[in-house]
Amino acid sequence: MLIEFDRVSVAFEGTIALDDVSVKLDQKRIGVIGLNGSGKSTFARLLNGLVKPTSGSVFVGGVNPAEDAKAARAQTGFIFSNPDVQIIMPTVLEDVAFSLRGSGLKKAEIDAKSRAILSRFEIEHLADQAAHSLSSGQKQLLAICAILVTEPKLIVADEPTALLDLVNSRRIARALLSDLPQQIVLVTHDLELAAGCDILVRFAGAKIVQIGEPSTVISSYLAENA
Ligand SMILES: Nc1ncnc2c1ncn2[C@@H]1O[C@H](COP(=O)(O)OP(=O)(O)OP(=O)(O)O)[C@@H](O)[C@H]1O
Ligand SMILES: [Mg+2]
Repeated sequence: MLIEFDRVSVAFEGTIALDDVSVKLDQKRIGVIGLNGSGKSTFARLLNGLVKPTSGSVFVGGVNPAEDAKAARAQTGFIFSNPDVQIIMPTVLEDVAFSLRGSGLKKAEIDAKSRAILSRFEIEHLADQAAHSLSSGQKQLLAICAILVTEPKLIVADEPTALLDLVNSRRIARALLSDLPQQIVLVTHDLELAAGCDILVRFAGAKIVQIGEPSTVISSYLAENA
């Protein structure tokens, strides 16, 4: 889908979180990097209407998330860095199945779909376990399953590996960057993960300061912040 920002600014009580950003992106794996407070999460949240522009407009696949939140949420799944904010139901299977409420599917179909996605991420053995008892990495995988089961066209992941160890970071990285057919916007401080994207967008001071080949963008980021 085409992601289009036209002169987008976001102001929070005097803080300019995003300053006159215009960009068009349609790559499959779009990485977003930059220092703390540079505007990355604000950019990510505009994609599904969690944040609305103070001025300017955002279109994702022709949908304006600020005006049509329902359509935006149907096409875009958002993965937070802390899976605890995303896990709602008592057990793993129930949590994934909960995403399909109102889908019109029968209970048996919901069950089968939910188990299939757990199996794809190799956590089907946890189906009946209490969601709160999972490890951080398992919770993050569960949160990803609960998003993917609805088959969003676009996945937005805001630091999905922030809480994870090396092994789980790599599992999530593989799941998001290699195995997924969907388009993804991946906000990350993990430059190894960022290097696996098709394109990197670099933020500094509420603006996009660079867009390009991951190796080039990472080199300038390292050089400027040495
Ligand atoms: N809800 C809010 N209320 C007030 N200020 C906010 C809010 N959200 C973001 N900001 C401010 O906007 C700026 C950009 O924040 P944003 O969360 O987009 O940064 P970020 O690049 O994601 O940073 P990090 O790497 O730390 O996650 C910061 O100065 C932040 O304090
Ligand atoms: Mg952030």
